[in-house]
Amino acid sequence: MNTLRRLGPIFLIVVFINASVAPIAAREPVRGRRGMVASTNEVASRVGVDIMKRGGNAVDAAIAVAFALAVTHPAAGNLGGGGFMMIRLKDGHSTAIDYREMAPAAAHRDVYLDKNGNLIEGEGGSLIGYRAVGVPGTVRGMDLALKKYGSGKFTWNQLVEPARRLAATGFTVTHSLARSLKSNDEYLSKYAETKRIYLRNGNFYREGEIFRQPELAATFARLQRFGPNEFYEGETARLIVADMKRNNGLMTLEDLRDYVAKERTPLRGNYRGHEIISMPPPSSGGAVLIQMLNILEGYDLSKLEASSSDRYHLMTEAMRRAFADRAEYMGDTDFVKVPIAGLIDKAYATKLRATINTERASTSAEVRAGRPAGYESEDTTHFTVVDADGNAVANTYTLNNSYGSAAMAKGTGILLNDEMDDFAAKPGTPNLYGLIQGERNAVAPKKRPLSAMTPTIVLRKDGSLWFTVGSPGGPTIINTVLCIITNVIDYEMNIQQAIDAPRIHHQWLPDELVGEPFGLSGDTVRALTSRGHTVAEKRRYLGDAEGIMIEEKTGIRLGATDPRRSDGPAVGY
Ligand code: GLY
Repeated sequence: MNTLRRLGPIFLIVVFINASVAPIAAREPVRGRRGMVASTNEVASRVGVDIMKRGGNAVDAAIAVAFALAVTHPAAGNLGGGGFMMIRLKDGHSTAIDYREMAPAAAHRDVYLDKNGNLIEGEGGSLIGYRAVGVPGTVRGMDLALKKYGSGKFTWNQLVEPARRLAATGFTVTHSLARSLKSNDEYLSKYAETKRIYLRNGNFYREGEIFRQPELAATFARLQRFGPNEFYEGETARLIVADMKRNNGLMTLEDLRDYVAKERTPLRGNYRGHEIISMPPPSSGGAVLIQMLNILEGYDLSKLEASSSDRYHLMTEAMRRAFADRAEYMGDTDFVKVPIAGLIDKAYATKLRATINTERASTSAEVRAGRPAGYESEDTTHFTVVDADGNAVANTYTLNNSYGSAAMAKGTGILLNDEMDDFAAKPGTPNLYGLIQGERNAVAPKKRPLSAMTPTIVLRKDGSLWFTVGSPGGPTIINTVLCIITNVIDYEMNIQQAIDAPRIHHQWLPDELVGEPFGLSGDTVRALTSRGHTVAEKRRYLGDAEGIMIEEKTGIRLGATDPRRSDGPAVGY
């Protein structure tokens, strides 16, 4: 309720967009002998394939795709946001690049509370406008990825060029982009610059028209000429901060200058003999995913129908427990202690599993965070790349809400994130996604907000690359990835079938199981209800997953995009 009050019409718009997408249909994955890109936008995927055809590796291609999506998929593709890049090289080495946004130095625990201790709603709060913006990480993240893991055959300048060209000469507006811009009319109208660029001041872009973004093209050109630091210390930084000052924002030139992308060790789990490589904090994605898989490993899901109430019951109980722990324990491990090893320990999962009644639902009121051993916006977008050598990238990045904070840094064409809402602005009070989060995720200067992004790589039992997957969707991301992994491993679906299949979501609180339109039959809902589950009346599509699988016998790359939201198929060669 709190969240609804805070967001009013905006929240309803976000939900409505999700509910208005096309129904799910089955199709064959796209096949490619050498390289493959699966992203939510075909134009951006083609950019990545072109880089690989010209000798680039998966990391080079991923960087070019990330910049291209900032042009062609403005709801989530970005320069003004942040994310995570999971890399597995052909020699088996895996690593994770953390380019999550960082709180400005002026942010503090109570920065989004009014004098009565209540959350500030609308502008000035953690969701809309300049005060909601975390220090963007995308440009430094791509810089780090290129320097350490690029092939060496492409320069920064060359990888930025396709995006600059797309922004300067324009690209054809698709049906889904036209619909997205129009249905976010109210949100995108909050700031004159955003309204001018994305809505042409109310003369909405129509499908088939050419969309040019000259300010963004000029920003890309500066990045080419002066390098990635230009964003953090050059003219772009000055333009962003000047606009921040005019609009009472928090971010300063020092915040931008001090931003660092970090390389982190991926989390590793094992599900029925398959290694799972996923994102560590400041994302909760990897830990929550592995914890749920550990719980589910104790049941033979393959004996249960894929869309049966029996399977959904067990998955819901695993989700409920892992999300209760998420709320209690997770935060930026550079600032707070998180018992990661305990949370992803198989023995801990065994204890949690013992609390599950295989016939009856628990209630979230009775499920509290467990005791693991020893301490140690709906809109986001995921893409994945596999090259001819078998190097793989799974990248999820975001502005948080669709079109971020709606604020655009004047003169740059850069839409700014509202990632500060991923902190617990008031610990114990729901955020944009209705998620309860604890003290460990309270706002602090230079801290990174907890994420649910879950870029994940799964290996075959012999240790070779099997598939990569990820999705947008706030907290639903983790459960979308869970559903897809169990669809592949337990139900032997190919990557397209696994992505197409209906999903469910439960996040501990609110205590409700969310299903998709056409995803839960009336019989299944009745069976779940009779077991004690509360099934949300409102159905909504969950996520926009993209994945690539390696066909075992042929080594062919199978690319799959999500029928729920993606703007075209995967592209391979
Ligand atoms: N902004 C969504 C996430 O990071 O989980």
